Amino acid sequence: MRNIEFHNRERETKEIRAILDNRPTLITFIYGPINSGKTELITHTIKELPDEYVVFYINLRTKFLSSYDDFIESLFEMEMESDGALKKGKETLAELVSSVTKVAGIPINKAFLDYVFKDNKPKNAFSYIIKLFEEVKATGKQPVLILDELQKIGDVKVNGFLVYELFNFFIDLTKELHLAHVFVVTSDSLFIEQIYNEAMLQGRCRYLLVNDFDKDTTLDFFDMYGFDSMEKELAWNCCGGKPVYLVELARVDDVGEMVAKMLKIRTSQVGELLNSLEAYGVEIEFRGGLHEVVYDKVVEELSKLKDNADCEYGYITPEISYLVKNNIIFVDPLAMVMKPQSKLDMLAVREVMKDV
Ligand SMILES: Nc1ncnc2c1ncn2[C@@H]1O[C@H](COP(=O)(O)OP(=O)(O)OP(=O)(O)O)[C@@H](O)[C@H]1O
Ligand SMILES: [Mg+2]
Repeated sequence: MRNIEFHNRERETKEIRAILDNRPTLITFIYGPINSGKTELITHTIKELPDEYVVFYINLRTKFLSSYDDFIESLFEMEMESDGALKKGKETLAELVSSVTKVAGIPINKAFLDYVFKDNKPKNAFSYIIKLFEEVKATGKQPVLILDELQKIGDVKVNGFLVYELFNFFIDLTKELHLAHVFVVTSDSLFIEQIYNEAMLQGRCRYLLVNDFDKDTTLDFFDMYGFDSMEKELAWNCCGGKPVYLVELARVDDVGEMVAKMLKIRTSQVGELLNSLEAYGVEIEFRGGLHEVVYDKVVEELSKLKDNADCEYGYITPEISYLVKNNIIFVDPLAMVMKPQSKLDMLAVREVMKDV
């Protein structure tokens, strides 16, 4: 099996390192199209960090989050013996901190966990984390908290939405206490759009876009894996710089065949989605209510991509939201631009639109 090395991301890595070199002041939101390499970037950067940073990386992707308790459980990590019993002897925060490795959930013991779950109050969990981070700081190290796929908690409620309680906590950790760096990673551009327009976060966060590779970076990648000039052209024209596709193409013997297969599959998926919308209609949750998705308006949005890959969107409609939720379109609220999630999506949309 071919081993694919971490490729480039010099600019983004530099930016993250510069943030980490300064004292924490703002929350950093890392966003971008799906499969653009956000998680890969963050995990690679963590690996390369010097030991003075203690990173708590929590990926919510695989967690089942239907309640506040689920969320709290996903943050913490209890140390177990090999027989499944809880590890003994970690009574104090200092003892818990002494065992943290570079990347882990937040360490906790049974007694603290009982406190954290008491009364169903996020405040308990947050004050525990602050105390633990202070303990990390006391050992001369810098805590870094990273939450990947944070949009998953969007619907969890505790006296209002948990996400707001959490943002206040992040503001506390950064701007108020300067205690920990906080990174929030998400591939949900509608979530970023909401955050961007959220009054409580104005001036309290920064955004870092992790896009698909640009053309030069993509061609470098092809060179590294021995693509000939025809393969390079085919691959760039069809897949653009989407890392996940590039890795797939580097794996196969026949790039042309793979590219054609990918395009066929994506075209049929997009076509199927539109057919089903036309035939059965769809309602989606939008701005707090259920809205019908109007087929003609979806077609209108997609037809904008016929000539231009990037176009300004003005404001989000249920139809744009529907296309984003189905991973066809990505919206960048900072640039107020919408574009296909990938070049493959753009080609698939153009193919489908020929018959509409
Ligand atoms: N810089 C890179 N070098 C080499 N391969 C990469 C790089 N970035 C991403 N990849 C490849 O692309 C795949 C998808 O990347 P990753 O999961 O990091 O994307 P993501 O943006 O986090 O996706 P999602 O939107 O689903 O959260 C990785 O599993 C890896 O194979
Ligand atoms: Mg990811």
